Amino acid sequence: MHPTFHVITFGCQMNVSDSDWLARTLIRRGFVRSALEEAELVVLNSCSVREKPEQKVYSALGRIARATRHNAQTFVALAGCVAQQIGERIFDSFPQVRLVLGSDGLGFAPDAIERLRAEPNLRLCFTDFSDSFAERPLEIIPGSRQATAFVSIMQGCGNCCAYCIVPATRGRPRSRSAEAVLVECRVWLETGVKEITLLGQNVNAFGQDGAAGDGPGFAGLLRRVAALPGLARLRFVTPHPKDVSPQLIRAFGELEQLCPRLHLPLQAGSDRVLARMGRKYDRAHYLKLIRLLRAARPDMVFSTDIIVGFPGESEEDFRDTLGIVEEVNFMSSFSFCYSDRPGTAAERMPDKLDAQLKLERLARLQALQERLSIVWLQGRVGDESVLLLEGASRKAASRGEAWQGRDPYGVPVNTFLPVGSGSSGVLMPVRITEAKKHSLLAVSADGGLA
Ligand code: 5AD
Ligand code: SF4
Repeated sequence: MHPTFHVITFGCQMNVSDSDWLARTLIRRGFVRSALEEAELVVLNSCSVREKPEQKVYSALGRIARATRHNAQTFVALAGCVAQQIGERIFDSFPQVRLVLGSDGLGFAPDAIERLRAEPNLRLCFTDFSDSFAERPLEIIPGSRQATAFVSIMQGCGNCCAYCIVPATRGRPRSRSAEAVLVECRVWLETGVKEITLLGQNVNAFGQDGAAGDGPGFAGLLRRVAALPGLARLRFVTPHPKDVSPQLIRAFGELEQLCPRLHLPLQAGSDRVLARMGRKYDRAHYLKLIRLLRAARPDMVFSTDIIVGFPGESEEDFRDTLGIVEEVNFMSSFSFCYSDRPGTAAERMPDKLDAQLKLERLARLQALQERLSIVWLQGRVGDESVLLLEGASRKAASRGEAWQGRDPYGVPVNTFLPVGSGSSGVLMPVRITEAKKHSLLAVSADGGLA
């Protein structure tokens, strides 16, 4: 019998990418993925960026215990940012948790899991930070065909945004060597991957920490990755506006593989709030970046993250946020009510806003964004575009096989193809026919089915 595992992931793309790595590693070691109820090993990859993250972990652990109660040997590996913060304290209250993997500890997981299976009374905790980027063997399942891949280029974050827990949970910034990044990208491309997303908490600070020696800097790295044979699309998350360099702006104009979509966290539109947040840019600088990027690449579109109700935020400050959202015309945004994080500077600030007021402002912002997003999506109808096919969706209809892909802006696009004619990783010219709330419909531009 093969051992079984189940993975539950909260949080950012970094966590999604870490969970994927662990799953691939376990599969290569003979494990098989299963439903939660059947799992011998449950990996819970946690996030602590907002709102009661510990409670979320505790309730997930409760759910896991109930689902697996018939299976005495089931154990849990708690990974990610909450694991980094709680550490081995979790062992006191949750007997099922036998492995704690902090931010730099994931690489120890495969061997640790094998030891834990052999020694039922053992518990292990890895929460030390490593001095340099914690390299892990690249695990690829032979014969796997995926269209897209994530590649980490740095760990940690060296900024001190007043609201943010990440520098505490992910440690100081450590860039990976450009050579290691290029080797990993090359291996993915050889398997048929067409799109690579470079990942980091502050991705465009790559190389600034000196950990990777005299590397090429972020824009230089983009150039080297874009030049790799087989790469059709290059993306990255998450950049910080203060580290958007002239070289990076130029790269958007020059590298055709670099997709014309940038997720650039704004956080607030008022200079007073931005200063209190410690963001190190103001409204005018952000707008200037948008202008320069659009000048370099006229079809460029933007998405963002926004926090409403930061301590001391006035109605006027909030209107500045609404104003800049409208001015930039974001295609989409993630917005959140400010939430206190332990040990951060904002936690100690006066003038906290009442929960009701924060929710009201969030609703106003989200209504505005919804309007902008719908108009933007509807404006795409009739456009010619190119989809990178990712997978066939479950519902196959009489019109053919339903496929999902993404356009260069990262928008999910659905299309019907003759049964058996689609394949993930194929770039397909299409014409957009309809806008849904968060996605588009398209038909094959060379007159395929429906
Ligand atoms: N409260 C609310 N939102 C937060 N974010 C980060 N910290 C907090 C906090 N304390 C948001 C930011 C960030 C996104 C990942 O989460 O907008 O960009
Ligand atoms: Fe969550 Fe931030 Fe940690 Fe990602 S880095 S898991 S978003 S707290």
